[in-house]
Amino acid sequence: MTEQAQNTTHFGFQTVAEEEKAGMVHGVFTRVASRYDLMNDLMSGGIHRVWKDAMMDWLAPQPWQRLLDVAGGTGDISFRFLKRAPGAQAVVCDMTESMLVEGRKRADAAALADSLDWVTGDAMALPFADNSFDVVTNAFGTRNITRIQDWLDEAFRVLKPGGRLMILEFSQLPNPAMQWAYDRYSFNVIPVMGQIVANDRASYQYLVESIRKFPDQETFAGMIRKAGFGQVKYRNLSMGIAALHSGWKL
Ligand SMILES: C[S@@+](CC[C@H](N)C(=O)[O-])C[C@H]1O[C@@H](n2cnc3c(N)ncnc32)[C@H](O)[C@@H]1O
Repeated sequence: MTEQAQNTTHFGFQTVAEEEKAGMVHGVFTRVASRYDLMNDLMSGGIHRVWKDAMMDWLAPQPWQRLLDVAGGTGDISFRFLKRAPGAQAVVCDMTESMLVEGRKRADAAALADSLDWVTGDAMALPFADNSFDVVTNAFGTRNITRIQDWLDEAFRVLKPGGRLMILEFSQLPNPAMQWAYDRYSFNVIPVMGQIVANDRASYQYLVESIRKFPDQETFAGMIRKAGFGQVKYRNLSMGIAALHSGWKL
């Protein structure tokens, strides 16, 4: 028998061929783009803003830095970074054009236009030169990427020596009772909210399932080390509902 085993991955709780996942994720974010920012506030009760501010507190942006925000969507991280460090430069890179289009419509995008670029590109094959950024970030994008290790390798490649990676992603609660309560909220409330606000239950069902498939804090820290990063550390946010991971290209 000569037929090769097909590489598979997960799309939420479904098993799919690796080459299908990016198209499915692209479909989700194309469909939700116009309601994405509103849904983030509603689903998290605004907490995603606190987490993104905590990311900036740990990152401590500097005016001389050039930031690449991968899977940057509608620009939340780049806007925050540039407001904290006027004079810095930022590039928002995302594979879903509709998300970038929504980002460009935001008032912050006009105010920060001189320091901000929007680029369509894939985290697993970043369209940037080696050693070209001081900081690489990713917020809530990593769990959507088909081959996470390839994206981490790419982050390492495009960072300058001495540069820093910081990733904000959903994570695992340490206590099973808390995880149970959080799962009840995620699985029962968020898809219904998606149906009502974005007229798209299936996309939000995928988003909550993808959270449960993401590796725990220690496993993810190991993947970052495997890509070559040093001084890898993480901080839990809201007891581990989300976590920040930081690593350095030493
Ligand atoms: C949940 S959104 C996060 C957007 C933004 N970072 C934020 O925090 O609001 C996830 C984003 O990841 C992007 N994405 C998923 N896979 C990607 C890939 N392989 N390369 C680039 N972007 C990707 C999607 O298009 C989507 O805009």
